[in-house]
Amino acid sequence: MHKTLLLFGATGDLAQRYLFASLANLLRDRLLPADFRIVAVARQKLTPAAFREHLAAAMTAKVGTDAHAPEVVDLLARTEYIVADLADPQNVAQQLAPLAGRPCVSFLSVPPNLFVPISQGLAAAGLLDAPSRLVLEKPIGRDLTSAREIMAAIGTCASEDRVFRIDHYLGKAPVQNLLALRFGNTLLEAVWNRQWIESVEILVAETAGVDGREGYYANYGALRDMVQNHILQLLCLIAMEPPGSLDADAVRNEKVKVLQALRPMTAETVAADSVRGCYQAGVVAGRAAAAFALPAGQAPTDTFVALRAHLDNWRWAGVPFLMCTGKRLAERCTEIVITFRGVSHWLFEKPSRDRATPNRMVIRLQPEENIELDLMSSLAAPEWGALELQPLPLDLSMALSPRRRIAYERLLLDALNGNPALFVRNDEVEAAWTWIDSVSDAWQAAGMPILPYLAGSWGPAEAAPYVPMVGRRAS
Ligand code: BG6
Repeated sequence: MHKTLLLFGATGDLAQRYLFASLANLLRDRLLPADFRIVAVARQKLTPAAFREHLAAAMTAKVGTDAHAPEVVDLLARTEYIVADLADPQNVAQQLAPLAGRPCVSFLSVPPNLFVPISQGLAAAGLLDAPSRLVLEKPIGRDLTSAREIMAAIGTCASEDRVFRIDHYLGKAPVQNLLALRFGNTLLEAVWNRQWIESVEILVAETAGVDGREGYYANYGALRDMVQNHILQLLCLIAMEPPGSLDADAVRNEKVKVLQALRPMTAETVAADSVRGCYQAGVVAGRAAAAFALPAGQAPTDTFVALRAHLDNWRWAGVPFLMCTGKRLAERCTEIVITFRGVSHWLFEKPSRDRATPNRMVIRLQPEENIELDLMSSLAAPEWGALELQPLPLDLSMALSPRRRIAYERLLLDALNGNPALFVRNDEVEAAWTWIDSVSDAWQAAGMPILPYLAGSWGPAEAAPYVPMVGRRAS
């Protein structure tokens, strides 16, 4: 395991909300080496002591961390701080040169325009020589062209096997569980295809707004912020063919085939297969919420997207994959719903066939992490007889589930250990952008409107038919 973590963008929201908190948890659980150290790097001119104070206060305010907890004290004691101009490779190289000679992991929690100058600075300082590794936060670029440019430049600084592209959804326990469920159960193996599955829905609904990230959001929108990475990664794990082994490349080979099978959207199909929205002022969980504040001079953007996608392959032909994500929605809820086809012949009086609830498997990531299987069962009492069926939701969660971890904990450990299985390969990023570009090009060509929706609602009413799970909630 590498013992030095260089954390770029250390004063940013992601680092202060999740990355340092993850490191504190790993220290508490004694999962990091005794001589582990963190070098925080950012542009802000702070002394190391001032940075530590700032970090402790930010963690308390944002995560509710107890600044006196032993793991936080430990974390701060292991953290040094270096100021560098992250847009200037020479300055990065100069500031970090004293660290050269030790294998380290550099984690770039910065906007994509800084990936290349930081990597060049690290390479010049010898900090990307094997076996050092580079971890990149999403998004990698804004479209296929910019992603390719970034990746080509980074490829000259570090070889692909040492570049770890993070998608924190891959570190979430239920997402990993998906593989166990799909490939560890004969029952599911048999029905996991177009013959038995009617539709797949993926919903990532957030009550939070864009707050503080308006500039970034105006440039990216929900399509690029959420669908290009998190939602497409979930789709890959649901739809991929069984890999020959759990070897990182065996899994990634199968994921990339799914992305390549996504049918591109066109100006002719996009209006029927997507909805874009942007939140207006409203009320979320009883509190007034302001409208999305578009920065001056920026084009309107989507904070809500619903898409109906199709995979042109043998297993999934004809099965719609419905994806939906939005900010400032009525509830925080992330779930995948697999709806099975109805039974071939209906024997029961009640409910009538058309009113029977279909079998569903619901994989929840937020607010709880659990898996539910919705079956139909008899009330089994003599006065009702076996002719009346009722929905029977089975909770498949483990009774004694371990403490819920921040997704980054697992990913940080994997990056330090050099295990790439839960990281995204270069060709996956390209294939994902190829499809996303088809959507955004089709939106532009078709002049797709961005529909307003009230903060605290389930998005534009037009979205309900695309995502029945949203329709079910909104009604
Ligand atoms: C990030 C996005 O990648 O994921 C955010 O940039 C989003 O806009 C976040 O809020 C959601 O992650 P989670 O784990 O809270 O569902």
